[in-house]
Amino acid sequence: MSEAVRQPVLAANWKMFKGPETTRAFLDRFMRLYPAHSDRSVVFFPAAISLSAFLAARSGRDDLEVGIQDVHTEVEGAYTGAVSAAMAAEAKLGWGLAGHSERRRDFGDEDATVGAKLRRLLEAGLRPILCVGETLEERRAGRLEEVLSRQMESVLDGLASSGCGTWHDKVLAYEPVWAIGTGETATPRDAAEAHGLIREVLSRRATDEPAATATILYGGSVKPDNIEALLAAEGVDGVLVGGASLDPDSFAQICLAGSDR
Ligand code: 13P
Repeated sequence: MSEAVRQPVLAANWKMFKGPETTRAFLDRFMRLYPAHSDRSVVFFPAAISLSAFLAARSGRDDLEVGIQDVHTEVEGAYTGAVSAAMAAEAKLGWGLAGHSERRRDFGDEDATVGAKLRRLLEAGLRPILCVGETLEERRAGRLEEVLSRQMESVLDGLASSGCGTWHDKVLAYEPVWAIGTGETATPRDAAEAHGLIREVLSRRATDEPAATATILYGGSVKPDNIEALLAAEGVDGVLVGGASLDPDSFAQICLAGSDR
């Protein structure tokens, strides 16, 4: 954790796992293992079809925040299968992901699309998490900084020209593509370096807020046995967890990192 002012965000991206029943079963156990903590934020990104089950099952536990994994670039329309940020806000969700590498890779989301989605999330009053990260090839070619800058500049340029207002309380996730679902984790040093670069890009452009106030999460094979080291790395303000968030015991351990329970 870098500055004491930023409280850690522990986020679970459930991707295309867990329907309504398995969501309820997860929460039933997780809520017994993880009592509310006021010094951290815990956020879940369930599959869209399981959102209402999640909201009903967490009853009385508003500390377990909820977000949408993806939104369309339009507010509404004839887009079969899609969900908009406005609809997510109507469903009382607080957060939204934009630019996850699986969306970029499998659904062709380009930087401009990611920017448009992030703007929709802001307009709808949700808190976006902008995901950025390089592939193994890009890393090997020494292009880490270039890729992170491109992914961020494009979104920030789009925001500036849209007049849609300022992105306050920025939250980003550094998710190196080579570490997602591979068991390969960036070392705390790799994470600190990338988080430093992200903060540099933000400070170069900061007209509104100092880059130091941005919250930057790390994602990619986070597990109970590496959480403490990752959270201790310079500039790492939390984590975005895939695989290890699907099991209530392991995600509760991650959420309890550094707490006396
Ligand atoms: P894993 O934790 O399974 O590597 O996934 C990370 C991720 O993509 C979170 O968004």
